[in-house]
Amino acid sequence: MRIDVVSIFPEYLEPLKLSLIGKARQDGLLSLDVHDLRDFTTDRHRTVDDTPYGGGAGMVMKPEPWAQALESVLPPEAERGAAETAGDSRPVLIVPSPAGARFTQAMAYELAEEEHLVFACGRYEGIDERVLDWSRERFDVRPVSLGDYVLNGGEVAVMAMVEAIGRLVPGVVGNAESLIEESHSDGLLEYPVYTKPSSWREHEVPEVLLSGNHGKIARWRRHQQFERTAERRPDLLEEFDATALPGADREAFAQLGYDVVDGRLRRRPEAG
Ligand code: ADE
Repeated sequence: MRIDVVSIFPEYLEPLKLSLIGKARQDGLLSLDVHDLRDFTTDRHRTVDDTPYGGGAGMVMKPEPWAQALESVLPPEAERGAAETAGDSRPVLIVPSPAGARFTQAMAYELAEEEHLVFACGRYEGIDERVLDWSRERFDVRPVSLGDYVLNGGEVAVMAMVEAIGRLVPGVVGNAESLIEESHSDGLLEYPVYTKPSSWREHEVPEVLLSGNHGKIARWRRHQQFERTAERRPDLLEEFDATALPGADREAFAQLGYDVVDGRLRRRPEAG
């Protein structure tokens, strides 16, 4: 996978040289290039922003440096033509913004399949909207939000997204099984985990985990997933597809006050 990031603060992305993503870059599993937007300005002050048309607070990012920067990461015309005949899609341009679609694990899986991702980090009040219109002719453009809160710019959101997407690229995480069992991979939160010692400061590891009974352990973990999700993220249960839920799981949900109605989990009104 190839990743390009355009930002006025390239240093912000330095941590992506560390840990699993850093190792994946070293191993050639993904390439990640960070480009300074100011390198694509032509004036002495390397200006990237200006006042908004129509008035209002703050500054808006000028379109031309963005077009120059984005053009510089596009594959050459000939290569692009060949990719299109081969049925390949255009690079995906991800524009982090609180006004974007919510970033989810499902989106991370989808983006991990792409050949080429480009991230455009906006600052100030945002990027001149025409850059997005212009980009739609060259990229598959996706405004994406990390969550319903406002950051100072896209850089922190890009770090989170690159980590979430990059770790799903085959070979980046050594033990692929750990990707299957983690939170959100099946629409539920992960079960709690414990390590030695079994007794620590008067807190004990749940006995079932010491029993060696793998069936019992699996059932306990599954129940913990349901309980945690019901307690911390009941919104996830509203989306949960319960059509193929086995009897034991339905039983566990019933204990938590949920019934399966038309393939969906419904909280019993009296469950409080
Ligand atoms: N830029 C500013 N706020 C953001 C958010 N919540 N998500 C993604 N990018 C942002």
